[in-house]
Amino acid sequence: MVIMQTNSWVPLFPDQASTFAWQVDLLYAYLIIVSIAFTIPIVVAIFYFGLRYREKEKYATPDEMHGSIMLETVWSIIPFVISMTIFLGGAYVYYNQYRIPDDPAMEVYVVGKQWMWKLQHSTGQREINELHVPVGRKVKLTMTTEDVLHDFSIPAFRTKADVVPGRYTYLWFEATKPGKYHLFCAEYCGLNHSGMGGWVYVMEQRDFDNWLSGNVSGQTPVEQGRDLFENKLGCASCHAGGPQQRGAKLEGIFGKEVKFVGGGSATVNEEYIRNSILNPSSQVVEGFQPIMPTFKGQVTEEQLVSLVAYIKSLSGVTGTTSTPGTPPAASNSASNSATPSRADGGNANMQGSNPNAPAANSNR
Ligand code: CUA
Repeated sequence: MVIMQTNSWVPLFPDQASTFAWQVDLLYAYLIIVSIAFTIPIVVAIFYFGLRYREKEKYATPDEMHGSIMLETVWSIIPFVISMTIFLGGAYVYYNQYRIPDDPAMEVYVVGKQWMWKLQHSTGQREINELHVPVGRKVKLTMTTEDVLHDFSIPAFRTKADVVPGRYTYLWFEATKPGKYHLFCAEYCGLNHSGMGGWVYVMEQRDFDNWLSGNVSGQTPVEQGRDLFENKLGCASCHAGGPQQRGAKLEGIFGKEVKFVGGGSATVNEEYIRNSILNPSSQVVEGFQPIMPTFKGQVTEEQLVSLVAYIKSLSGVTGTTSTPGTPPAASNSASNSATPSRADGGNANMQGSNPNAPAANSNR
């Protein structure tokens, strides 16, 4: 299609570099065609009627008109069909984009801050304002922010999502061709918003493996999380899972349903774990005392991401099914299928009872 040429001087339509890019473009083209198909006849009719029925004699009485069932039926059904196709097409593209696959080949953690993107692979490699991914693999991003709202946007993949203080949001994509693509912040976030961007590098699997092994990985998020859990924060003194322990045993907890004292329940997902660390008393699980102190202010968003990754790993959810040294995907399928897969960060039960939600942010 002509309007989708890639190297136009004004980059209105960037490369189509993900599996759903063409769907977004097709829907957009359809909307433009429908708009044009209505706009032109209406403008022509305005001028035609203006001339044809202009006033020729003062106080003329127009001919009486009666309704036309035929006409009214036609002008109801045609717009109905058009708007339903827009709705169905939009819903299809939306669900395809924002329902996170249960079996991502790769997981990347993203933390936004004024004014940079900090990314970490589940194998430990860190990047700033750059993201390297292999072509043809499903990549899941788990994202949050240290300060204000940002929006992680990759136009060539036709996808983006807000990054919200106090919550996790998710994106996924499968890149279809190697290359270097713009990464933007798409939500005004202060003075240097326009500079808060970078590049996504899509590489052949072999090049990606080279890149990965050529970068110091340091600790993986799971290892960092374990270190925090066992040493730095001392979570293990209550949560190590022994019979004398006061805190909940965390093995196998991810994806499970928990009931709260005083009613209500939630599925254990990333959001729930995060909230349990920062606001433990807001969701005390049945059978436990509200004795856990809050860790608000003592852990950074990146540390929280590591803790969440570690606690997920206790249930066999690693997010790195392709990496050697981690459990094979097959043994994870049960817990993976329970992974929250909604773009808005998951369980509707929880949103209302999350005192930790954006209000905690004073920078806005
Ligand atoms: Cu971050 Cu705009």
